[in-house]
Amino acid sequence: MRKPMIAGNWKLHKTLQEASDLISGLIPNVADNRNVEIVVAPVYTSLGKVAEAISGSNIKLAAQNCYPEPQGAFTGEVSPLLLKDVGCQYVIIGHSERRQLFGESNKLINSKAHALADVGLGIIFCIGETLEERETEQTFDVLRRQVRLGLKNLREDQMKSLVVAYEPVWAIGTGKTASDEQAQEAHAFIRALLTELYDKETAKATRILYGGSVKPGNVDSLMSQPDVDGALVGGASLKADDFARIVNFQAQDS
Ligand code: 13P
Repeated sequence: MRKPMIAGNWKLHKTLQEASDLISGLIPNVADNRNVEIVVAPVYTSLGKVAEAISGSNIKLAAQNCYPEPQGAFTGEVSPLLLKDVGCQYVIIGHSERRQLFGESNKLINSKAHALADVGLGIIFCIGETLEERETEQTFDVLRRQVRLGLKNLREDQMKSLVVAYEPVWAIGTGKTASDEQAQEAHAFIRALLTELYDKETAKATRILYGGSVKPGNVDSLMSQPDVDGALVGGASLKADDFARIVNFQAQDS
């Protein structure tokens, strides 16, 4: 019942020309895939160009961030409405790089979630523990806090367009993927938490993506885990062939 989502987070990579090349390399390689919701998240400056390129295809557009206010004196920021206007259907919020490098709090992330829900944009809501937090056995406390505060006062009907991305910080860009068991354990915990905070139906329907060094070589077994509903891919989404292979994953019987 949960359609898998594979999303590529291009982070701060690709000029306009490079973004065009990447997307035109990707489109034909995933065109036949109707079983997966495919999303790409380029930098702000490439959104318009990528939106044009994917028009009529099975690929959707996401932004990597937003500001929670609709307009005003907020130099350098971009609002949810403008992202919708340029063709985005999703926005990533709460990425660990925003939390760590730009000091984003759970409160700010929660206000972004509300602002996005208010304009009807889909949300890719990222959470995840650091290595130190994992080693000191705080993983579940951290995930609980991030989910409770990040989703505060978000209604059940608004949860329908929200996807959770579990991205352990120690696995991002390190080549050190969480094991299938570690991913499944965290995802099952998050789903149980959603049952507590909402209800069984919402928890069952909410997709939980795994992110952190997802590659063509490990996607199949990760996607075979019962609570892994997709992937949020960084580095490997920058190469059309690699990303296409991830989109066209082959879940294995576990
Ligand atoms: P990598 O796939 O490069 O580890 O990045 C994961 C990520 O942060 C996606 O948002």
